[in-house]
Amino acid sequence: MPSSRLRLLLLVAVVRGAMRPGAVNNRFPDDFLFGAASASYQVEGGWDADGKGEGIWDRMFHEHPEFSRDGQNGDVADDSYHLYKEDVKLLKELGVNHYRFSISWPRIMPTGEANNINQPGIDYYNNLINELLDNGIQPMVTMYHWDLPQWLQDLGGWTNPIIVDYFEDYARVLYETYGDRVKWWSTFNEPKSFIMGYSRDDGLIAPSIKKPGVGDYLATHHLLIAHARAYHLYDEQYRAKQQGKVSIALNTDWHEPLTNSTEDIAAADRAMQFDFGLFAHPIFSTEGDYPPLLRERIDNNSKAEGRTRSRLPVFSKEMVEYIRGTYDFLGLNYYSTTLVTSGLTGDNPSRERDSGIIESVDPSWPTSPSSTWLKVVPWGLRKLITWIHQNYNAPTIVITENGYSDHGTLEDTERISYYKSHMTEVLKAMNEDGAHVIGYTAWSILDNLEWNSGYTERFGVCYVNISDPARPRTPKASFYYLKNVFQTHEIQDTTDGSR
Ligand code: NOJ
Repeated sequence: MPSSRLRLLLLVAVVRGAMRPGAVNNRFPDDFLFGAASASYQVEGGWDADGKGEGIWDRMFHEHPEFSRDGQNGDVADDSYHLYKEDVKLLKELGVNHYRFSISWPRIMPTGEANNINQPGIDYYNNLINELLDNGIQPMVTMYHWDLPQWLQDLGGWTNPIIVDYFEDYARVLYETYGDRVKWWSTFNEPKSFIMGYSRDDGLIAPSIKKPGVGDYLATHHLLIAHARAYHLYDEQYRAKQQGKVSIALNTDWHEPLTNSTEDIAAADRAMQFDFGLFAHPIFSTEGDYPPLLRERIDNNSKAEGRTRSRLPVFSKEMVEYIRGTYDFLGLNYYSTTLVTSGLTGDNPSRERDSGIIESVDPSWPTSPSSTWLKVVPWGLRKLITWIHQNYNAPTIVITENGYSDHGTLEDTERISYYKSHMTEVLKAMNEDGAHVIGYTAWSILDNLEWNSGYTERFGVCYVNISDPARPRTPKASFYYLKNVFQTHEIQDTTDGSR
Protein backbone atom coordinates (compact mmCIF):
# COMPACT_ATOMS: atom_id res chain seq x y z
CA MET A 1 0.00 0.00 0.00
CA PRO A 2 1.68 3.28 -1.05
CA SER A 3 2.16 5.93 1.61
CA SER A 4 -0.37 8.73 1.59
CA ARG A 5 2.25 11.11 0.22
CA LEU A 6 3.05 8.75 -2.65
CA ARG A 7 -0.64 8.28 -3.32
CA LEU A 8 -1.06 12.05 -3.41
CA LEU A 9 1.84 12.43 -5.87
CA LEU A 10 0.43 9.70 -8.07
CA LEU A 11 -2.97 11.34 -8.03
CA VAL A 12 -1.50 14.73 -8.96
CA ALA A 13 0.43 13.13 -11.82
CA VAL A 14 -2.68 11.40 -13.12
CA VAL A 15 -4.83 14.54 -12.82
CA ARG A 16 -2.18 16.63 -14.58
CA GLY A 17 -2.11 14.13 -17.37
CA ALA A 18 1.53 13.23 -16.74
CA MET A 19 0.67 9.55 -16.89
CA ARG A 20 -2.28 7.32 -17.51
CA PRO A 21 -2.98 4.73 -14.83
CA GLY A 22 -2.41 1.21 -16.07
CA ALA A 23 -1.34 2.51 -19.49
CA VAL A 24 1.07 0.48 -21.57
CA ASN A 25 2.93 1.55 -24.66
CA ASN A 26 1.26 -0.90 -26.98
CA ARG A 27 -2.36 -0.19 -26.15
CA PHE A 28 -4.49 2.81 -27.09
CA PRO A 29 -7.39 3.96 -24.90
CA ASP A 30 -10.80 2.56 -25.81
CA ASP A 31 -12.06 5.92 -27.03
CA PHE A 32 -9.00 6.62 -29.21
CA LEU A 33 -9.93 7.60 -32.79
CA PHE A 34 -8.30 5.83 -35.72
CA GLY A 35 -8.67 7.01 -39.28
CA ALA A 36 -7.21 7.28 -42.76
CA ALA A 37 -6.74 10.30 -45.00
CA SER A 38 -6.70 11.59 -48.57
CA ALA A 39 -7.00 14.92 -50.41
CA SER A 40 -9.22 15.99 -53.29
CA TYR A 41 -6.65 16.74 -55.98
CA GLN A 42 -4.67 13.62 -55.12
CA VAL A 43 -7.53 11.14 -55.50
CA GLU A 44 -10.62 12.56 -57.17
CA GLY A 45 -9.80 13.12 -60.82
CA GLY A 46 -12.81 14.45 -62.75
CA TRP A 47 -10.83 17.64 -63.07
CA ASP A 48 -13.45 19.34 -65.26
CA ALA A 49 -16.38 16.98 -64.67
CA ASP A 50 -19.92 18.28 -64.29
CA GLY A 51 -19.06 21.96 -64.07
CA LYS A 52 -15.99 21.84 -61.83
CA GLY A 53 -13.84 24.96 -62.16
CA GLU A 54 -10.15 25.02 -62.90
CA GLY A 55 -7.86 24.78 -59.88
CA ILE A 56 -4.28 26.01 -59.58
CA TRP A 57 -2.92 22.46 -59.88
CA ASP A 58 -4.93 21.87 -63.05
CA ARG A 59 -3.49 25.03 -64.55
CA MET A 60 0.07 24.32 -63.45
CA PHE A 61 0.29 20.74 -64.70
CA HIS A 62 -1.58 21.49 -67.95
CA GLU A 63 0.79 24.35 -68.73
CA HIS A 64 3.87 22.58 -67.39
CA PRO A 65 3.59 18.81 -67.79
CA GLU A 66 7.36 18.71 -67.29
CA PHE A 67 6.84 19.59 -63.63
CA SER A 68 5.46 16.12 -63.02
CA ARG A 69 8.12 13.49 -62.40
CA ASP A 70 6.23 10.71 -64.18
CA GLY A 71 3.92 12.74 -66.40
CA GLN A 72 0.90 12.00 -64.21
CA ASN A 73 -1.45 14.72 -63.04
CA GLY A 74 -4.76 14.97 -61.22
CA ASP A 75 -7.00 14.80 -64.31
CA VAL A 76 -8.03 11.25 -63.40
CA ALA A 77 -5.87 10.35 -60.39
CA ASP A 78 -7.61 7.51 -58.49
CA ASP A 79 -10.95 8.48 -60.03
CA SER A 80 -12.50 8.71 -56.58
CA TYR A 81 -14.97 11.17 -58.10
CA HIS A 82 -16.60 8.09 -59.59
CA LEU A 83 -15.30 5.37 -57.28
CA TYR A 84 -15.95 6.91 -53.87
CA LYS A 85 -18.23 4.05 -52.87
CA GLU A 86 -15.33 1.64 -53.32
CA ASP A 87 -13.19 3.88 -51.14
CA VAL A 88 -15.81 3.85 -48.41
CA LYS A 89 -16.05 0.07 -48.64
CA LEU A 90 -12.30 -0.17 -48.05
CA LEU A 91 -12.45 2.30 -45.19
CA LYS A 92 -15.18 0.28 -43.59
CA GLU A 93 -13.18 -2.88 -43.91
CA LEU A 94 -10.17 -1.13 -42.43
CA GLY A 95 -12.37 -0.32 -39.45
CA VAL A 96 -11.75 3.42 -39.23
CA ASN A 97 -13.58 5.81 -36.99
CA HIS A 98 -13.00 8.71 -39.38
CA TYR A 99 -12.09 9.47 -42.97
CA ARG A 100 -10.09 12.65 -43.40
CA PHE A 101 -10.68 14.01 -46.90
CA SER A 102 -10.69 17.46 -48.44
CA ILE A 103 -13.23 19.39 -50.42
CA SER A 104 -12.18 20.83 -53.73
CA TRP A 105 -13.14 24.49 -53.60
CA PRO A 106 -13.39 24.81 -57.43
CA ARG A 107 -15.57 21.70 -57.63
CA ILE A 108 -18.32 23.32 -55.59
CA MET A 109 -17.57 26.98 -56.43
CA PRO A 110 -15.92 27.02 -59.87
CA THR A 111 -14.54 30.56 -59.56
CA GLY A 112 -14.35 30.53 -55.77
CA GLU A 113 -17.28 32.92 -55.51
CA ALA A 114 -20.32 32.10 -53.40
CA ASN A 115 -22.76 33.34 -56.03
CA ASN A 116 -21.51 30.68 -58.40
CA ILE A 117 -22.35 27.28 -56.95
CA ASN A 118 -21.90 24.05 -58.88
CA GLN A 119 -24.70 21.74 -57.79
CA PRO A 120 -23.15 18.47 -59.05
CA GLY A 121 -20.05 19.28 -57.00
CA ILE A 122 -22.18 19.92 -53.92
CA ASP A 123 -23.95 16.61 -54.58
CA TYR A 124 -20.70 14.70 -54.84
CA TYR A 125 -19.67 15.59 -51.30
CA ASN A 126 -23.21 15.07 -50.00
CA ASN A 127 -23.09 11.57 -51.43
CA LEU A 128 -19.63 10.87 -50.03
CA ILE A 129 -20.58 12.16 -46.56
CA ASN A 130 -23.83 10.18 -46.53
CA GLU A 131 -22.08 7.04 -47.71
CA LEU A 132 -19.53 7.41 -44.90
CA LEU A 133 -22.18 7.98 -42.24
CA ASP A 134 -24.27 5.07 -43.52
CA ASN A 135 -21.19 2.95 -42.90
CA GLY A 136 -20.53 4.32 -39.43
CA ILE A 137 -17.57 6.51 -40.46
CA GLN A 138 -17.19 10.11 -39.32
CA PRO A 139 -16.23 12.62 -42.02
CA MET A 140 -13.24 14.75 -41.00
CA VAL A 141 -13.14 17.50 -43.58
CA THR A 142 -10.24 19.67 -44.69
CA MET A 143 -11.52 22.83 -46.35
CA TYR A 144 -8.31 23.61 -48.15
CA HIS A 145 -5.81 20.98 -49.20
CA TRP A 146 -4.12 23.23 -51.73
CA ASP A 147 -6.54 23.34 -54.71
CA LEU A 148 -7.38 27.02 -55.02
CA PRO A 149 -9.76 28.09 -57.79
CA GLN A 150 -7.60 29.52 -60.58
CA TRP A 151 -9.95 32.50 -60.78
CA LEU A 152 -8.85 33.53 -57.28
CA GLN A 153 -5.21 32.92 -58.11
CA ASP A 154 -5.61 35.33 -61.02
CA LEU A 155 -6.39 37.95 -58.35
CA GLY A 156 -3.16 37.08 -56.52
CA GLY A 157 -4.35 34.06 -54.57
CA TRP A 158 -3.13 33.94 -50.98
CA THR A 159 -1.02 37.08 -51.42
CA ASN A 160 -4.12 39.28 -51.86
CA PRO A 161 -5.90 40.17 -48.60
CA ILE A 162 -9.28 39.92 -50.35
CA ILE A 163 -8.85 36.12 -50.28
CA VAL A 164 -9.89 36.22 -46.63
CA ASP A 165 -13.42 37.33 -47.58
CA TYR A 166 -13.68 34.67 -50.25
CA PHE A 167 -12.50 31.99 -47.84
CA GLU A 168 -15.08 33.03 -45.27
CA ASP A 169 -17.79 32.81 -47.94
CA TYR A 170 -16.54 29.35 -48.82
CA ALA A 171 -16.53 28.24 -45.17
CA ARG A 172 -20.11 29.50 -44.81
CA VAL A 173 -21.21 27.40 -47.78
CA LEU A 174 -19.52 24.36 -46.23
CA TYR A 175 -21.10 24.81 -42.79
CA GLU A 176 -24.52 25.54 -44.32
CA THR A 177 -24.40 22.58 -46.68
CA TYR A 178 -22.57 19.89 -44.76
CA GLY A 179 -22.38 21.09 -41.14
CA ASP A 180 -25.45 19.14 -40.10
CA ARG A 181 -23.39 15.97 -40.65
CA VAL A 182 -19.71 17.03 -40.51
CA LYS A 183 -18.43 17.49 -36.96
CA TRP A 184 -14.70 17.70 -37.62
CA TRP A 185 -13.34 20.58 -39.70
CA SER A 186 -9.82 21.71 -40.52
CA THR A 187 -9.49 25.00 -42.31
CA PHE A 188 -6.07 24.36 -43.86
CA ASN A 189 -3.77 21.46 -44.46
CA GLU A 190 -0.06 22.13 -44.03
CA PRO A 191 0.30 25.88 -44.52
CA LYS A 192 4.07 25.42 -44.29
CA SER A 193 3.92 23.36 -47.47
CA PHE A 194 1.52 25.37 -49.57
CA ILE A 195 3.02 28.80 -48.89
CA MET A 196 5.97 27.44 -50.90
CA GLY A 197 3.73 27.93 -53.92
CA TYR A 198 4.68 31.61 -53.55
CA SER A 199 8.39 31.13 -52.94
CA ARG A 200 9.55 28.77 -55.68
CA ASP A 201 8.79 28.26 -59.36
CA ASP A 202 9.97 24.70 -59.88
CA GLY A 203 6.51 23.13 -59.82
CA LEU A 204 6.87 21.64 -56.35
CA ILE A 205 3.74 23.43 -55.23
CA ALA A 206 1.17 25.39 -57.27
CA PRO A 207 0.90 28.17 -58.30
CA SER A 208 4.70 27.99 -58.53
CA ILE A 209 5.46 31.69 -58.23
CA LYS A 210 8.91 32.68 -57.05
CA LYS A 211 8.70 35.53 -54.54
CA PRO A 212 10.66 34.05 -51.64
CA GLY A 213 10.66 35.85 -48.31
CA VAL A 214 7.78 38.03 -49.44
CA GLY A 215 5.05 36.03 -51.19
CA ASP A 216 5.21 33.19 -48.67
CA TYR A 217 4.91 35.55 -45.68
CA LEU A 218 1.99 37.38 -47.30
CA ALA A 219 0.25 34.05 -47.89
CA THR A 220 0.93 33.08 -44.26
CA HIS A 221 -0.56 36.30 -42.98
CA HIS A 222 -3.74 35.97 -44.98
CA LEU A 223 -4.31 32.29 -44.37
CA LEU A 224 -4.03 32.88 -40.62
CA ILE A 225 -6.69 35.59 -40.77
CA ALA A 226 -8.82 33.42 -43.06
CA HIS A 227 -8.52 30.56 -40.58
CA ALA A 228 -9.65 32.81 -37.72
CA ARG A 229 -12.58 34.12 -39.79
CA ALA A 230 -13.78 30.59 -40.49
CA TYR A 231 -13.39 29.68 -36.81
CA HIS A 232 -15.31 32.72 -35.54
CA LEU A 233 -17.99 32.23 -38.15
CA TYR A 234 -18.55 28.73 -36.83
CA ASP A 235 -18.51 29.95 -33.24
CA GLU A 236 -21.00 32.71 -33.84
CA GLN A 237 -23.43 31.12 -36.23
CA TYR A 238 -23.10 27.34 -36.30
CA ARG A 239 -21.50 25.88 -33.20
CA ALA A 240 -24.61 25.99 -31.01
CA LYS A 241 -26.67 23.91 -33.39
CA GLN A 242 -24.02 21.86 -35.17
CA GLN A 243 -21.77 21.05 -32.18
CA GLY A 244 -18.65 20.34 -34.20
CA LYS A 245 -14.96 21.18 -33.90
CA VAL A 246 -12.86 23.48 -36.06
CA SER A 247 -9.10 23.61 -36.31
CA ILE A 248 -6.08 23.57 -38.61
CA ALA A 249 -3.66 20.80 -39.59
CA LEU A 250 -0.03 21.87 -39.20
CA ASN A 251 3.08 19.97 -40.21
CA THR A 252 6.73 20.04 -39.50
CA ASP A 253 9.68 17.74 -39.30
CA TRP A 254 11.09 17.44 -35.82
CA HIS A 255 14.32 19.46 -35.70
CA GLU A 256 17.04 18.00 -33.51
CA PRO A 257 20.24 19.94 -32.70
CA LEU A 258 23.19 18.52 -34.65
CA THR A 259 25.38 18.62 -31.49
CA ASN A 260 24.90 19.61 -27.86
CA SER A 261 26.42 23.03 -28.48
CA THR A 262 24.42 26.05 -27.37
CA GLU A 263 24.56 27.30 -30.94
CA ASP A 264 23.03 24.14 -32.38
CA ILE A 265 20.37 24.01 -29.67
CA ALA A 266 19.40 27.58 -30.53
CA ALA A 267 19.41 26.75 -34.25
CA ALA A 268 17.10 23.78 -33.74
CA ASP A 269 14.74 25.98 -31.75
CA ARG A 270 14.80 28.56 -34.56
CA ALA A 271 13.97 25.84 -37.06
CA MET A 272 10.95 24.82 -34.98
CA GLN A 273 9.85 28.45 -34.74
CA PHE A 274 10.17 29.06 -38.46
CA ASP A 275 8.55 25.81 -39.53
CA PHE A 276 5.88 25.44 -36.88
CA GLY A 277 5.74 28.53 -34.63
CA LEU A 278 5.08 30.78 -37.62
CA PHE A 279 1.62 29.18 -37.87
CA ALA A 280 1.10 27.78 -34.39
CA HIS A 281 2.13 30.74 -32.24
CA PRO A 282 -0.61 33.12 -33.48
CA ILE A 283 -3.29 30.46 -32.84
CA PHE A 284 -2.14 28.21 -30.01
CA SER A 285 0.18 30.27 -27.76
CA THR A 286 -0.94 32.24 -24.71
CA GLU A 287 0.28 35.55 -26.12
CA GLY A 288 -0.73 35.05 -29.75
CA ASP A 289 1.00 36.81 -32.68
CA TYR A 290 4.08 35.61 -34.58
CA PRO A 291 6.91 34.22 -32.46
CA PRO A 292 8.99 37.18 -31.14
CA LEU A 293 12.15 35.54 -32.51
CA LEU A 294 10.75 35.62 -36.06
CA ARG A 295 9.47 39.15 -35.68
CA GLU A 296 12.90 40.31 -34.65
CA ARG A 297 14.93 38.45 -37.28
CA ILE A 298 12.69 39.24 -40.23
CA ASP A 299 12.26 42.88 -39.18
CA ASN A 300 16.03 43.27 -38.83
CA ASN A 301 16.77 41.60 -42.13
CA SER A 302 14.13 43.70 -43.87
CA LYS A 303 15.68 46.86 -42.44
CA ALA A 304 19.15 45.81 -43.52
CA GLU A 305 17.76 45.29 -47.03
CA GLY A 306 16.72 48.96 -47.00
CA ARG A 307 12.99 48.27 -46.90
CA THR A 308 10.45 50.65 -45.46
CA ARG A 309 8.54 47.81 -43.82
CA SER A 310 9.09 44.25 -42.71
CA ARG A 311 8.59 41.44 -45.21
CA LEU A 312 6.58 39.74 -42.46
CA PRO A 313 3.32 41.71 -42.25
CA VAL A 314 2.21 43.02 -38.86
CA PHE A 315 -1.01 42.05 -37.06
CA SER A 316 -2.87 44.81 -35.25
CA LYS A 317 -3.47 44.24 -31.53
CA GLU A 318 -7.09 43.47 -32.31
CA MET A 319 -6.08 40.94 -34.94
CA VAL A 320 -3.70 39.20 -32.54
CA GLU A 321 -6.64 38.75 -30.17
CA TYR A 322 -8.94 37.73 -33.00
CA ILE A 323 -6.63 34.89 -34.11
CA ARG A 324 -5.46 33.75 -30.67
CA GLY A 325 -7.30 30.66 -29.40
CA THR A 326 -9.11 29.83 -32.64
CA TYR A 327 -8.88 26.08 -32.24
CA ASP A 328 -10.79 23.17 -30.79
CA PHE A 329 -7.90 20.74 -31.33
CA LEU A 330 -4.54 20.71 -33.10
CA GLY A 331 -4.16 18.62 -36.26
CA LEU A 332 -0.60 17.36 -36.64
CA ASN A 333 1.09 15.87 -39.70
CA TYR A 334 4.44 14.22 -39.11
CA TYR A 335 6.73 12.24 -41.40
CA SER A 336 10.40 12.83 -40.60
CA THR A 337 13.20 14.56 -38.67
CA THR A 338 16.27 16.62 -39.50
CA LEU A 339 19.46 17.64 -37.71
CA VAL A 340 20.09 21.34 -37.44
CA THR A 341 23.02 23.69 -37.11
CA SER A 342 23.24 27.40 -37.74
CA GLY A 343 24.25 28.95 -41.06
CA LEU A 344 22.92 30.86 -44.03
CA THR A 345 21.41 29.18 -47.03
CA GLY A 346 18.72 29.78 -49.62
CA ASP A 347 17.75 32.74 -51.77
CA ASN A 348 18.35 36.23 -50.48
CA PRO A 349 15.86 37.11 -49.17
CA SER A 350 13.93 34.00 -48.21
CA ARG A 351 12.27 32.37 -45.25
CA GLU A 352 15.04 29.80 -45.35
CA ARG A 353 17.72 32.47 -45.06
CA ASP A 354 15.79 34.36 -42.39
CA SER A 355 15.79 31.22 -40.28
CA GLY A 356 19.59 30.94 -40.35
CA ILE A 357 19.67 27.18 -40.16
CA ILE A 358 21.26 24.37 -42.12
CA GLU A 359 19.68 20.94 -42.07
CA SER A 360 21.18 17.49 -42.49
CA VAL A 361 20.29 13.92 -41.66
CA ASP A 362 21.96 11.09 -39.87
CA PRO A 363 23.17 8.63 -42.54
CA SER A 364 22.18 5.75 -40.30
CA TRP A 365 18.49 6.66 -40.46
CA PRO A 366 16.58 4.38 -42.84
CA THR A 367 15.18 6.14 -45.92
CA SER A 368 12.00 5.48 -47.82
CA PRO A 369 12.89 3.77 -51.12
CA SER A 370 10.88 6.35 -53.06
CA SER A 371 10.96 9.64 -51.08
CA THR A 372 14.51 10.85 -50.49
CA TRP A 373 13.22 13.32 -47.87
CA LEU A 374 11.51 10.65 -45.79
CA LYS A 375 13.95 9.40 -43.16
CA VAL A 376 12.41 7.01 -40.69
CA VAL A 377 12.83 8.60 -37.24
CA PRO A 378 9.98 7.50 -34.98
CA TRP A 379 11.34 9.20 -31.82
CA GLY A 380 11.04 12.52 -33.66
CA LEU A 381 7.26 12.17 -33.48
CA ARG A 382 7.31 11.75 -29.72
CA LYS A 383 9.63 14.72 -29.28
CA LEU A 384 7.42 16.83 -31.53
CA ILE A 385 4.20 15.94 -29.74
CA THR A 386 5.77 16.60 -26.36
CA TRP A 387 7.30 19.90 -27.50
CA ILE A 388 3.87 21.03 -28.71
CA HIS A 389 2.30 19.87 -25.46
CA GLN A 390 4.79 21.91 -23.45
CA ASN A 391 4.90 25.01 -25.63
CA TYR A 392 1.30 25.50 -26.70
CA ASN A 393 -0.87 24.94 -23.65
CA ALA A 394 -1.24 21.19 -23.84
CA PRO A 395 -3.70 21.16 -26.74
CA THR A 396 -5.81 18.19 -27.67
CA ILE A 397 -3.95 16.69 -30.62
CA VAL A 398 -5.22 14.61 -33.51
CA ILE A 399 -2.47 13.13 -35.65
CA THR A 400 -3.98 14.05 -39.01
CA GLU A 401 -1.24 12.44 -41.11
CA ASN A 402 1.58 9.96 -40.68
CA GLY A 403 2.77 7.47 -43.25
CA TYR A 404 5.45 5.91 -45.40
CA SER A 405 6.11 5.72 -49.13
CA ASP A 406 7.53 3.05 -51.41
CA HIS A 407 7.07 2.00 -55.03
CA GLY A 408 3.81 0.18 -54.40
CA THR A 409 4.69 -3.31 -53.20
CA LEU A 410 1.83 -5.35 -51.72
CA GLU A 411 4.07 -7.00 -49.14
CA ASP A 412 4.90 -3.66 -47.54
CA THR A 413 6.61 -4.77 -44.36
CA GLU A 414 8.57 -1.51 -44.11
CA ARG A 415 5.32 0.46 -44.04
CA ILE A 416 4.09 -1.83 -41.27
CA SER A 417 7.28 -1.19 -39.27
CA TYR A 418 6.86 2.53 -39.83
CA TYR A 419 3.28 2.53 -38.54
CA LYS A 420 4.17 0.27 -35.65
CA SER A 421 7.12 2.33 -34.46
CA HIS A 422 5.38 5.67 -34.89
CA MET A 423 2.21 4.60 -33.11
CA THR A 424 4.37 3.34 -30.25
CA GLU A 425 5.98 6.78 -29.97
CA VAL A 426 2.53 8.40 -29.91
CA LEU A 427 1.70 6.18 -26.95
CA LYS A 428 4.93 7.12 -25.19
CA ALA A 429 4.10 10.81 -25.62
CA MET A 430 0.70 10.15 -24.12
CA ASN A 431 1.68 7.78 -21.33
CA GLU A 432 5.06 9.12 -20.29
CA ASP A 433 4.93 12.79 -21.27
CA GLY A 434 1.25 13.44 -20.58
CA ALA A 435 0.35 14.67 -24.07
CA HIS A 436 -3.34 14.73 -25.00
CA VAL A 437 -3.48 12.80 -28.23
CA ILE A 438 -6.97 11.58 -29.10
CA GLY A 439 -6.60 10.35 -32.65
CA TYR A 440 -4.27 8.92 -35.29
CA THR A 441 -4.83 9.14 -39.05
CA ALA A 442 -2.85 7.09 -41.54
CA TRP A 443 -1.73 8.73 -44.77
CA SER A 444 -3.06 7.32 -46.95
CA ILE A 445 -5.96 5.00 -47.66
CA LEU A 446 -4.88 4.78 -51.33
CA ASP A 447 -1.76 5.19 -53.40
CA ASN A 448 -2.44 8.60 -54.87
CA LEU A 449 -0.97 11.46 -56.86
CA GLU A 450 1.95 12.61 -54.76
CA TRP A 451 1.84 16.11 -56.26
CA ASN A 452 4.80 16.70 -58.58
CA SER A 453 6.17 13.23 -57.81
CA GLY A 454 3.13 11.69 -59.44
CA TYR A 455 2.82 8.00 -58.60
CA THR A 456 6.54 7.50 -58.05
CA GLU A 457 5.98 7.89 -54.29
CA ARG A 458 3.15 5.69 -53.08
CA PHE A 459 1.80 6.17 -49.57
CA GLY A 460 -1.32 3.99 -49.73
CA VAL A 461 -2.31 1.05 -47.60
CA CYS A 462 -4.15 0.08 -50.79
CA TYR A 463 -2.37 -0.27 -54.12
CA VAL A 464 -3.95 1.50 -57.09
CA ASN A 465 -3.19 0.27 -60.61
CA ILE A 466 -3.04 3.47 -62.60
CA SER A 467 -2.36 1.72 -65.90
CA ASP A 468 -5.86 0.29 -65.72
CA PRO A 469 -8.64 2.80 -66.54
CA ALA A 470 -10.79 1.09 -63.90
CA ARG A 471 -8.22 2.09 -61.27
CA PRO A 472 -8.60 -1.13 -59.26
CA ARG A 473 -7.60 -0.94 -55.60
CA THR A 474 -5.84 -3.79 -53.78
CA PRO A 475 -5.22 -3.81 -50.02
CA LYS A 476 -1.57 -4.22 -49.06
CA ALA A 477 -0.25 -6.12 -46.05
CA SER A 478 -0.19 -2.85 -44.07
CA PHE A 479 -3.95 -2.55 -44.58
CA TYR A 480 -4.49 -5.76 -42.66
CA TYR A 481 -1.96 -4.78 -40.04
CA LEU A 482 -3.71 -1.46 -39.37
CA LYS A 483 -7.09 -3.17 -39.43
CA ASN A 484 -5.93 -5.33 -36.57
CA VAL A 485 -4.62 -2.37 -34.56
CA PHE A 486 -7.77 -0.34 -35.19
CA GLN A 487 -9.92 -3.25 -34.06
CA THR A 488 -7.99 -4.27 -30.96
CA HIS A 489 -6.45 -0.88 -30.09
CA GLU A 490 -3.29 -2.87 -29.59
CA ILE A 491 -0.05 -2.58 -31.54
CA GLN A 492 0.75 -6.05 -32.76
CA ASP A 493 4.35 -7.16 -32.60
CA THR A 494 4.54 -8.46 -36.14
CA THR A 495 5.48 -7.03 -39.49
CA ASP A 496 3.29 -9.16 -41.66
CA GLY A 497 -0.28 -8.10 -42.12
CA SER A 498 -1.96 -11.27 -40.88
CA ARG A 499 -5.04 -11.56 -43.03
C1 NOJ B 1 1.58 15.93 -46.72
C2 NOJ B 1 0.39 16.34 -47.51
O1 NOJ B 1 -0.65 16.84 -46.72
C3 NOJ B 1 -0.10 15.25 -48.45
O2 NOJ B 1 -0.84 15.87 -49.44
C4 NOJ B 1 1.07 14.47 -48.99
O3 NOJ B 1 0.68 13.55 -49.96
C5 NOJ B 1 1.75 13.75 -47.85
N1 NOJ B 1 2.19 14.70 -46.88
C6 NOJ B 1 2.95 12.90 -48.24
O4 NOJ B 1 3.95 13.69 -48.73
